[in-house]
Amino acid sequence: MRLFLDTANLAHIRHGIELGVVTGVTTNPSLVSKEGKVDYKALVKEICAVVPGPVSTEVLSLECDGMVDEAHEIVTWAENIAVKIPATTEGLKATSVLAKEGIKVNMTLCFSLNQAILAAQSGAAFVSPFVGRLDDIGENGMDLVVDIVDYLSYYNLPTQVIAASIRHTAHCLSAAKAGAHIATVPYGVLLQMVAHPLTDIGVRRFTDDWNKVMGNAGILPQQ
Ligand code: G3P
Repeated sequence: MRLFLDTANLAHIRHGIELGVVTGVTTNPSLVSKEGKVDYKALVKEICAVVPGPVSTEVLSLECDGMVDEAHEIVTWAENIAVKIPATTEGLKATSVLAKEGIKVNMTLCFSLNQAILAAQSGAAFVSPFVGRLDDIGENGMDLVVDIVDYLSYYNLPTQVIAASIRHTAHCLSAAKAGAHIATVPYGVLLQMVAHPLTDIGVRRFTDDWNKVMGNAGILPQQ
């Protein structure tokens, strides 16, 4: 399972890339607005320059024609853009048009297997089931990820699943076990994935044991 960062914060994106574990980014209007009143195009271009893989950038229009026009503009900003389009009837129409042109679409706000089936049929490169938001209304969001992965692999379809609206590390584990191609995680969750108290205790003990016998001599020869 690949990891994307679900943020528009450049410092967090840079750190994730530095760690060598983040290969893409997903943004949405809410995440961009968290960064304050920014120049959307300039911010997306900067993110795309830092990130090796796809950067999902959402359209704001609600109708097919507007979505297609916005997508045509957005893809000129960088080569690694995936256009994020909601799973609505207008979104499906727009995705069908864009997919035929070879534009990668991430069909977002997916809350049912039916929507995922339609996303795959319309040619979306990615489909994003929102796990946390389904959990919020008393459903099991990860069950949807399992169903979509099964469906896509049963019919050998190329659409990739991005497990989205990830709220905690248990979601990451379940997404990986479900076979999601990608999980897009908030920066805080990425940091929690590496954290373990036994690792911290172990590192401290190794250092203390070494220092007790060797003093502060390191491994590299002293200058
Ligand atoms: O990737 C989708 C994500 O940004 C939505 O997350 O936490 O607002 O449900 P959340």
